[in-house]
Amino acid sequence: MKKIEAIIRPEKLNDVKSALEELGFHGMNITHVTGRGAQRGIVHQGRSGEAVAYDMLPKVKVEVVISDLSVDRAVEAITRASRTGNIGDGKIFIIPVEEAIRVRTGERGEVAV
Ligand SMILES: Nc1ncnc2c1ncn2[C@@H]1O[C@H](COP(=O)(O)OP(=O)(O)OP(=O)(O)O)[C@@H](O)[C@H]1O
Ligand SMILES: [Mg+2]
Repeated sequence: MKKIEAIIRPEKLNDVKSALEELGFHGMNITHVTGRGAQRGIVHQGRSGEAVAYDMLPKVKVEVVISDLSVDRAVEAITRASRTGNIGDGKIFIIPVEEAIRVRTGERGEVAV
């Protein structure tokens, strides 16, 4: 199993959720985070023309644990749903997951995710 950790634009959350739903991935975590990438935030022009720097920008983190076989499909769906082509589109990390346990039944492994 793998955990897909996708950092996306907040306004793309609904599209990403729908894309994952369509593939049958229902379980997920959503966390509102602040972060920065290669550009280290953005600089806006203030009212009096001064430069105002925003170091950390609001993003949404989507976490989905799925079977190894599903990773490529999920990554493709998240990428398609969240891309605008502009800087700040986000990033996807894939992390190994050792075990999953459904608390109610005690089921383990892929049947539990
Ligand atoms: N190396 C990283 N480690 C952890 N989180 C990261 C990393 N890079 C980016 N992030 C997270 O992803 C968010 C979006 O990053 P972003 O899309 O700006 O990446 P980028 O590498 O700067 O690519 P781009 O040039 O397309 O903007 C960041 O705000 C941060 O939350
Ligand atoms: Mg960036």
